[in-house]
Amino acid sequence: MEREQAQSAGLSIRDADVGPGAEPLLAVRDLRVYFRLAIGARGGRSGGAAPEAGVARAVDGVDLDLDRGECVALVGESGCGKTATALAILRLLPAGRSADVRGRILLAGRDLLSLPEGAMRRVRGREISMVFQEPQSALNPVFTVGEQVAESLLAHGMAGRAGARHLAVEALRAVGMPDPERMAESYPHELSGGMKQRALIAAAIATSPAVLIADEPTTALDVTVQSQILDLLDRLRRERGLALLLITHDLGAVADMASRVYVMYAGKVVERCHASDLASGNVLHPYTQGLLRARPVLGATAGNAGGDRGRRRLAAIPGSVPSAAAMPAGCRFAPRCPWADRVCAGEEPPLREVAPGRAVACCHASPDRGNAWTGQGCQDAASCAGTGA
Ligand SMILES: Nc1ncnc2c1ncn2[C@@H]1O[C@H](COP(=O)(O)OP(=O)(O)OP(=O)(O)O)[C@@H](O)[C@H]1O
Ligand code: SF4
Ligand SMILES: [Mg+2]
Repeated sequence: MEREQAQSAGLSIRDADVGPGAEPLLAVRDLRVYFRLAIGARGGRSGGAAPEAGVARAVDGVDLDLDRGECVALVGESGCGKTATALAILRLLPAGRSADVRGRILLAGRDLLSLPEGAMRRVRGREISMVFQEPQSALNPVFTVGEQVAESLLAHGMAGRAGARHLAVEALRAVGMPDPERMAESYPHELSGGMKQRALIAAAIATSPAVLIADEPTTALDVTVQSQILDLLDRLRRERGLALLLITHDLGAVADMASRVYVMYAGKVVERCHASDLASGNVLHPYTQGLLRARPVLGATAGNAGGDRGRRRLAAIPGSVPSAAAMPAGCRFAPRCPWADRVCAGEEPPLREVAPGRAVACCHASPDRGNAWTGQGCQDAASCAGTGA
């Protein structure tokens, strides 16, 4: 109610009450992103013109909450639907043409999927910003860095040309860019990879958005620069109360930065837990357990194979993520899961709450069942025998 009053009074979501007990700042409900695919240019029974339609279910019923000042991580292997989820939140997919986007995306109570495009343009970049997955191609080589950071301020009418330039320099300063006045006059090719990423983050936060989506912000950066960029995002979250949705493959970064984690597999959230559960290895879904086991750990000693002193062989999850256009029936992880049985093939397990803040989509996972790959922690050794890798 207070939120509605605030909105009708023309206040931005930064002014509205989104405190404890209120709905999350961003609430994604039953989000579905289905891409329509043309299979075979010469499809049709008689080899005629009409192509057959196929559907890639890239995101298939995702729920996700994100609150002010909170960092939530979205993890999963390549092709699981992380970027499609982020692009759907910003309505950057070609909805109505090749993409069918359904569900609800509530930003401080407003459903973004039902906003007219003009209103959505005001949300994009102003209320929710995104740092895209490919820093090398996200900056336009023919404009200066300062012009590109100022662009969003100008587009949203938040400043005139001179004011936008000043605010762009301040945004570059806020992200720790050395000599921000000079950097604002530089072209992208004059910047290192880490500086380019800082410039993109400056462009994303210049308008003081409430939500920042960072899609693999450290990909293609060297390790020391990666940790600087993650520290920067963490500082911006703390200082500005930003709600940060961090999409990453880096489970170490998740443990350091996020409070909660959503694990995606084949378009679905299969586990939701506290980041501390991930850090301690206390995860329930065989997929999450497999991800943790496949993670390289610096200085790890011969734990589970290999035999070389001071080394640990990485234990990859066998197989690969199914194509979004050909999902298996029942549990989508079944072809790769050591616990899979007839029950799993018959039904698609729903995400069920197993403890406060913890949910898992698996017919067999429970705190007593232990680890699907090692058998450790299982309270029923007989039923686990033979399932360990
Ligand atoms: N425009 C599109 N048309 C058809 N299918 C698409 C399209 N964009 C994405 N997909 C499919 O949707 C699925 C999810 O893709 P998405 O890019 O969201 O994965 P991701 O989790 O971000 O992977 P990565 O970690 O590699 O970035 C994949 O199977 C992908 O092939
Ligand atoms: S439902 Fe079955 S196949 Fe799927 S993750 Fe759980 S045990 Fe494995
Ligand atoms: Mg992606």
